[in-house]
Amino acid sequence: MERKTTYITKEQTDRQMALCAEISAFWQSQDITPLAYVETYGCQQNEADSERIRGMLVECGYSICQQAEGADVVVMNTCAIREHAEQRVFGNLGALTHTKRRHARQKIFVCGCMMGEPTVSARIQKSYPHVDGVFSTHHLWEFPAILHRVLFIGKRTFFVEDQAGSIAEGIPVVRSNHLKAWVSIMYGCNNFCSYCIVPYVRGRERSRKPEAILAECRELIAQGYKDITLLGQNVNSYGKDLDCGVDFSDLLSQIAQLPGDFLLRFMTSHPRDAGPKLFDTMAKYPKIAKQLHLPFQSGNDRVLKAMNRHYDRAQYLSLVTYARTVMPELVLTSDVIVGFPGETEEEFADTLSLIETVGYDALFTFIFSPRPGTPAAKMDDPTPKADKNRRFDALCALQNKISESRHQAYIGKRLRVLIDGQEDKLLTARTEGGRLVRLEGAPSLIGQFEEVVITGATTWSLVGTRIEKGGENNG
Ligand code: SAH
Ligand code: SF4
Ligand code: F3S
Repeated sequence: MERKTTYITKEQTDRQMALCAEISAFWQSQDITPLAYVETYGCQQNEADSERIRGMLVECGYSICQQAEGADVVVMNTCAIREHAEQRVFGNLGALTHTKRRHARQKIFVCGCMMGEPTVSARIQKSYPHVDGVFSTHHLWEFPAILHRVLFIGKRTFFVEDQAGSIAEGIPVVRSNHLKAWVSIMYGCNNFCSYCIVPYVRGRERSRKPEAILAECRELIAQGYKDITLLGQNVNSYGKDLDCGVDFSDLLSQIAQLPGDFLLRFMTSHPRDAGPKLFDTMAKYPKIAKQLHLPFQSGNDRVLKAMNRHYDRAQYLSLVTYARTVMPELVLTSDVIVGFPGETEEEFADTLSLIETVGYDALFTFIFSPRPGTPAAKMDDPTPKADKNRRFDALCALQNKISESRHQAYIGKRLRVLIDGQEDKLLTARTEGGRLVRLEGAPSLIGQFEEVVITGATTWSLVGTRIEKGGENNG
């Protein structure tokens, strides 16, 4: 079925802003500053969406608070990627009956990827009567209309119809961090990896126009943001739906040439669409962080085929070799699934050997979780849970050993880091590759790029000493 992207018009978003103004005026007339709490599950894409939800809530006169207790609006932005994620949402949603009982004015909304599953929204409609409104990711931009209807008409409101997918520009945003910003460059996914629910719940791949992305990045840099991460489920296929002659590498190089002191990152890359042009672009521009998240999922060709990943082990390894040839300092991370249906011990051993061969800086490890409606959920899966858990533990143990030795290798190195916060009297910073560094120093350094020398390492973080500008080592 041909499904076209709809661009939400300026009139449509202006209408939403007018509804925000009405809601805000209502609270003002009551002399109340209402509170709103947004809880986010899942990936950075959801974090970025939550920042827009908070933006719309602030536009409606709400102050953002940090807990459901006492909040006038609670929004749960959900994730459907694994069964466990869904169970957590249902558990926490149940608990909101109590916060609502203690604060009768509380309105509860549920949105995000789970609401793209018709069975889930139906379950909420039937069994969670304390939920006032539900909307899928396609309807995020219409949240003011949903809130308006719930507040003023008093009707439970469900905006969950499956849509081809839309792109709305100009939604207000309240960012959670003053130094680091997410910029969604595309929505949805066309890959249909056989285990994954994302294409079903987030719809077809659609790209924002390059002008809109560049304008957002320019604004962020002007506001003092130092670390910009471009987001998409498969950033390497950016622009394919636009026909404007700008692919992801072109977009990256345009942003990397903007004036200002910032680092540019992106995620996620799909090995099927990543290639030399991308890696050459990364290598060329100092403002592009030499960091790559390149999920491999499995080291075995049969499993990769069953996963519908469209690359094999050899192709993946040659991509990594190319990337490291042009960027020797590259920090490489990945995702892997253990216990895909029918995965044998030998096939799992291929995954371990790939991890050993590549030597990732960090790995995000998952046990296969069947998602209803995906092809993998219907595949035969004879491996007992205990075996999967054992494989998972073996994989984590191997990666911890590798992470620790890669961290140890940083000792003595001089690196540029962005000081981004303070924790237990020490400053925290991130290397260009995204590694966490702890160091001593004044809080006034937060927000600055500084040179450090690494003096210690654990599996999870590095310890550093700041080098005073001018080259003298202060420690
Ligand atoms: N778009 C990204 C990742 C999306 S989800 C990509 O293609 O890489 C993040 C990770 O969750 C995936 O990379 C995969 O490793 C894991 N994942 C997705 N579906 C899963 C499932 N059904 N069971 C277990 N892990 C899953
Ligand atoms: Fe899911 Fe695959 Fe799309 Fe990633 S590329 S979101 S794993 S279908
Ligand atoms: Fe979860 Fe949706 Fe992200 S399913 S991982 S929040 S795209």
